[in-house]
Amino acid sequence: MTVQINPSILSADPANLEPELARIATADAAHIDVMDGHFVPNLTMGLPIVARLAQVSPIPLDVHLMIDDADRWAPQYAEAGAASVTFHAEAVRAPVRLARELRAAGVGAGVAVRPATPVEPLLDLLAEFDMVLVMTVEPGFGGQSFIEGTLPKVSRLRQAVGPAGPGAVHIQVDGGVSRTTIGRIARAGADVFVAGSAVYGADDPAAEVAALRALAEAPYEA
Ligand code: DX5
Ligand code: ZN
Repeated sequence: MTVQINPSILSADPANLEPELARIATADAAHIDVMDGHFVPNLTMGLPIVARLAQVSPIPLDVHLMIDDADRWAPQYAEAGAASVTFHAEAVRAPVRLARELRAAGVGAGVAVRPATPVEPLLDLLAEFDMVLVMTVEPGFGGQSFIEGTLPKVSRLRQAVGPAGPGAVHIQVDGGVSRTTIGRIARAGADVFVAGSAVYGADDPAAEVAALRALAEAPYEA
């Protein structure tokens, strides 16, 4: 299966983001965590920084908005140069309207769910999205441990989406992804993997991306 490995720069050195992006140039996209201190109890970066990162990044930006009032702000991240924009189902009033707006702006539209948010309400609406993000930790911080109980949700989504491949809605997982957990997450059906501390905590982030990719592509061999 073709998988995507998207390192999260939340675990990168914030004083050196351009070189930190260069270290993951072999990854599929850079995962950008935007937090507003309201939707989650942490604060990261906003539009001007994301717009600048889009100019210097060697790979596309996969923007994950952990913010209130995504209806209002998400389209501006499309304009800022993101390749895909993912908003939280819990933070938006009109997810389909917003996804259509993002697609009309030429970017991928993703919808994210916290660990305790069910995916069932989204299942009949999957055609409206390019990606569903299943949070496998409580959003807000890197370096937390993987919540095993989120895996059945990934499996149910894979069943609803059908086989991964061109045109299929992507199933992304974010939180606690590492060499230890990625095999079983891949077996549950995810095809896009975010990894922050695992990649940037490694001496060689590019080698870590390659190792994670190999484990996710052949999850039954581990
Ligand atoms: C957490 C963020 C994640 C975070 C993952 O709210 O959405 O993208 O960077 O970090 P790790 O991979 O360390 O769990
Ligand atoms: Zn994230």
